[in-house]
Amino acid sequence: MFDRPRGTNDWGPEDMAKRRFVDSRFIQLAESFGFREVSTPTFESLELFTAKSGPAIVRELYAFKDQGGRDLALRPEFTASILRFYVSSLRSLPKPLKLYTTGNAFRYEEPQKGRYREFSQLNAEIIGGAPLPSDAESLALAIGTMRAIGLKQVKARIGNIGILRSFLPFPPADQAVVLHSLDKRNFPMLEAELARLGRSDLSTPLRKVIDLSGDVSILEIAAKLLGGAAKEGLAYLRDLAGLLDGYGVSRSDYAFDMGVVRGLDYYTGMVFEIDSPNLGSEKQVGGGGGYRLAEVFGGESVAQTGFALGLDRLVMAAEAEGTIEPARPLDAYVVPIGDNARTKAIQVLTTLRAAGLGADIDLVGRGPSKNLDYANAIGARFAVLLGEREIKAGRATVREMSTGAQREVALDDLVDVLRDV
Ligand code: HAM
Repeated sequence: MFDRPRGTNDWGPEDMAKRRFVDSRFIQLAESFGFREVSTPTFESLELFTAKSGPAIVRELYAFKDQGGRDLALRPEFTASILRFYVSSLRSLPKPLKLYTTGNAFRYEEPQKGRYREFSQLNAEIIGGAPLPSDAESLALAIGTMRAIGLKQVKARIGNIGILRSFLPFPPADQAVVLHSLDKRNFPMLEAELARLGRSDLSTPLRKVIDLSGDVSILEIAAKLLGGAAKEGLAYLRDLAGLLDGYGVSRSDYAFDMGVVRGLDYYTGMVFEIDSPNLGSEKQVGGGGGYRLAEVFGGESVAQTGFALGLDRLVMAAEAEGTIEPARPLDAYVVPIGDNARTKAIQVLTTLRAAGLGADIDLVGRGPSKNLDYANAIGARFAVLLGEREIKAGRATVREMSTGAQREVALDDLVDVLRDV
């Protein structure tokens, strides 16, 4: 017996049906928004992730050397991979490029409920649009996905990290440490870092800024508190609210929150996080915003924005709110009775499958009553019983599993009968 590695999961058929329910809604909505799917490798050069974040990120990664001595890492997210792909191969495609991807990602984290070392994300990026309409489109897809899953309790927090950055006249590495301490609300670390940088005076205003949250009216309060430097960034958020109205995103679905800092280093503009209040400590189901990565990877400067939703957490939220529709049951379980019936039964099975019905057949050679027990246990809608007598007459006995009602049906009518009921 072997155990799974810590922080990983096995997903059984019922789990997978729930996961498919959720990710298919994202895919459907993303495609209806004009996003197209891409796929990138599960592992990348380690440097792809350290280029922006520096070597400190390595302890959060699954980093390793391959047999050729190359430094690699399992992807902790998709954005860096997609921007690498964009810079190397997709630059000549018409812009804006709207790309989505789904799959697993890996982070060396302390596992707990809703936080795993291998998890899955639903990810979307817009490259080369104008920032404001692209940010609005991205947010509308993120919030719309939650709605499409049936979630009622959606709370997005929208901020602008550009405003915070404008308060921090430090080299990027120092700015990152200060932002990290703000993200974690680690105030001793904040004080120590600002003291080291000789700017302890910034502590009070920064702490005031990150406490600003509320509806669109807080943007006025923020403007008074923050002065000229923040004017543009706050006007941007006000305009964003106007565009979100157009998408039908309700103002009660989001708040403005100047304390949204994000854990990743590449964000430069509007940033957001979405919570599902049912989930306890790991309630953040998604996050994203405007960022600069193409430039870090040698590409020209274009606007980039996007988000990722955590599939594992979305499924937990959908379970908590009871929104997951049951998977489609098997339409027919075919039961050959007697050895001579099997070939004909396989033909009937194949016809049903070709007609798009879900159909399965006895593979064990059980007797009819054991087979009916099995059909019941797997939740089949109908059992189709085929004995030699029925076959000779060109007919089958169809049993509706929920009621036990049985009737004989001509094989030619079988597809229609199973479809209709
Ligand atoms: P992130 O906030 O790091 O953003 O991750 C997005 C979501 O992935 C989180 O809100 C959470 O639901 C899920 N997630 C993250 N880590 C774990 C974990 N250890 N276990 C379970 N779920 C987890 C990004 O990854 C950015 N790449 C988003 C983005 C795209 N920004 C711009 N474009």
